Amino acid sequence: MKFTLQHTDPQSKARAGVLKTDHGDIETPIFMPVGTAGSVKAVHQRELTYDIKAQIILGNTYHLYLRPGLGVLEKAGGLHKFNGWEKPILTDSGGYQVFSLAGTRKITEEGVVFKSHIDGSKHIFSPEGVMDIQRSIGADIIMAFDECTPYPCEFEYARKSMDMTHRWLKRCIERFDSTEGKYGYNQTLFPIVQGSVYKDLRKRSAEFIASCDREGNAIGGLSVGEPAEMMYEMTEMVTDILPEDKPRYLMGVGTPANILECIALGVDMFDCVMPTRNARNGMLFTSEGIINIRNEKWKEDFSPLDPVINSYVSSFYSKAYLRHLTISKEILAAQIASIHNLAFYLWLVGQAREKIKSGEFSSWKDQMVKKVSTRL
Ligand code: GUN
Repeated sequence: MKFTLQHTDPQSKARAGVLKTDHGDIETPIFMPVGTAGSVKAVHQRELTYDIKAQIILGNTYHLYLRPGLGVLEKAGGLHKFNGWEKPILTDSGGYQVFSLAGTRKITEEGVVFKSHIDGSKHIFSPEGVMDIQRSIGADIIMAFDECTPYPCEFEYARKSMDMTHRWLKRCIERFDSTEGKYGYNQTLFPIVQGSVYKDLRKRSAEFIASCDREGNAIGGLSVGEPAEMMYEMTEMVTDILPEDKPRYLMGVGTPANILECIALGVDMFDCVMPTRNARNGMLFTSEGIINIRNEKWKEDFSPLDPVINSYVSSFYSKAYLRHLTISKEILAAQIASIHNLAFYLWLVGQAREKIKSGEFSSWKDQMVKKVSTRL
């Protein structure tokens, strides 16, 4: 994998770059649609490619390991062959999913013992095991096994957890570097900065992660309920320390405004369930602001969802029609809204990239943050 920085914004820390993988190039800043169980919910690969113009999607170790399981994935020849997505894939390590199973998991130095949400069966995730599982899934970018601390979190808990995440990272690296990809292309391992909302912990964690000298770095443990300003402050501290010549991935963030603010702080990669999950509840993100499509206001509004977004559904379907489908609980509503929201997120990061290249990012960002946060 190779990352090339192409432009930097003179007024902020925003950057435009390109990340080359064996499954193709990713132009940054980028948003990565979430495909937890190997499918971006309600969206075909064809729509992801041609309407949404996604360049990389996410999968989850936890879900894929439990179902369909590694036997099926290996027989298929890896996740790309199994789901037909030929571009890059990133898998999260399960270090977020297993910790959200409060009550049904136990953390030790060795790893995490947890119960499956599907059948209650008992499993253990260790740093080594999670590397092996992600080798079998075959994502281009795989994530280290970490603990994502909740918010709020006591300082002592956050410190101990961060130290354990660092020890786990050493074990991840040892295992990853002593094994090979199973399907003939390269994989790369991104470590994850933790440290909750404590500046000194974040600084220590970022310095440790930077010293590991991997091909890219991630920032975790944010957007877990802390105020947005706190998230920005932690992100800025960390991007000041992480190396400039490597991509930076902010995990699980966020709203369109969060993404623009964090691009300005030097983040290159984002993922979040928000565009797809909220789509299924009738929330649309548009270039003019946020729409609750169930609202009476749209009953007879026959204008397109958002003609500025160059996806098929955004200009083909009207707000009134999507409102009707949503209220009638038609499954097409989830499809249209999901495709539209993802197309909007990809449009937004694409615009940010163009503005960084033309040197207009900062003033554009300030205007755009206001617009995309407006409730219509
Ligand atoms: N997704 C969102 N936040 C996190 C995090 O801190 N760790 C992992 N592994 N995944 C995440």
